[in-house]
Amino acid sequence: LADALAARGSGDLIEEFAVPLPIAVISELLGVPEAERAAVRTWSNDLFAAAAPETVDRASHALSDYMTGLIASRRAAPGDDVLSGLIAARDEADRLSEAELVSLAVLLVVAGHETTTHLIGNGMLALLKDDALRARLRAEPALLPAAVEEFLRHDAPLTLATFRYATEPVELGGARIATGEVVLVSPGAANRDPARFAAPDEVRLDRPDQAGRHLSFGHGPHHCLGAPLARLEARIAFEVLLTRFADIRPASADWDELEWRRTRLMRGLVRLPVHIDR
Ligand code: HEM
Repeated sequence: LADALAARGSGDLIEEFAVPLPIAVISELLGVPEAERAAVRTWSNDLFAAAAPETVDRASHALSDYMTGLIASRRAAPGDDVLSGLIAARDEADRLSEAELVSLAVLLVVAGHETTTHLIGNGMLALLKDDALRARLRAEPALLPAAVEEFLRHDAPLTLATFRYATEPVELGGARIATGEVVLVSPGAANRDPARFAAPDEVRLDRPDQAGRHLSFGHGPHHCLGAPLARLEARIAFEVLLTRFADIRPASADWDELEWRRTRLMRGLVRLPVHIDR
């Protein structure tokens, strides 16, 4: 992907790099054939879009129908992919119901798509805005894991976690929440809490107590299952994008012109035009 961008000398970092990379990785892991990846991406996008309820509903059904079919074909001819492993856990060890198997497969493919795209996109935006940071990370790639954590904190790809329901009355930040009420938790807002992080709006690699303190992967029993994969993909992506070329520069420094995705759940760019000096 990086070589193709370099060959053209310029391009859109989102559509030509940050989108296809996580899709290829999660599809390879799950065993989604190449010809079917475009359809899966469309459904996955629709699921998170600020779209009409019918569109979201259709995407949700299409994804579970698709996964039901893929599971049937893996059952007939198992491979060395994650899906075949999950099928074995269901069929041989009875550790999953059929419905759980389908919904976990859908969750994995969806969760593996856009979040990592936006980690790469939002992180690259921070790097493109800051020449000194870009130079420092290029010179010291050992700092990349810390940079990935700071990018996760600074611009959380998932702005809202899944719904929570209060199991008892609680008072939080001056608000009273009654039993049974729905609670929307925003990791993106928590990550910018000035009581927790000094100068929260700044990207800083030297936050001594930073490691693991952001909430971008959630917290507790539902902490993101894919966090190690996302961290690995992002670290490799940043390393390649910073070291493969002489430089990578923003096509325009008019940051206010950048278009952000219109969704309730995600924070990420639609496009990030760049120039590449080979
Ligand atoms: C930068 C990328 C990612 C971000 C920011 C992210 C964020 C999150 C967050 C915040 C949660 C918790 C949701 C909640 O508690 O309401 C979560 C859960 C989850 N994530 Fe991720 N995720 C990322 C990548 C991935 C990838 C690559 C996969 C799959 C390979 C994945 C699979 C999951 C699954 C299965 C859960 C549900 C875990 C459970 O409920 O026990 N995620 N993720």
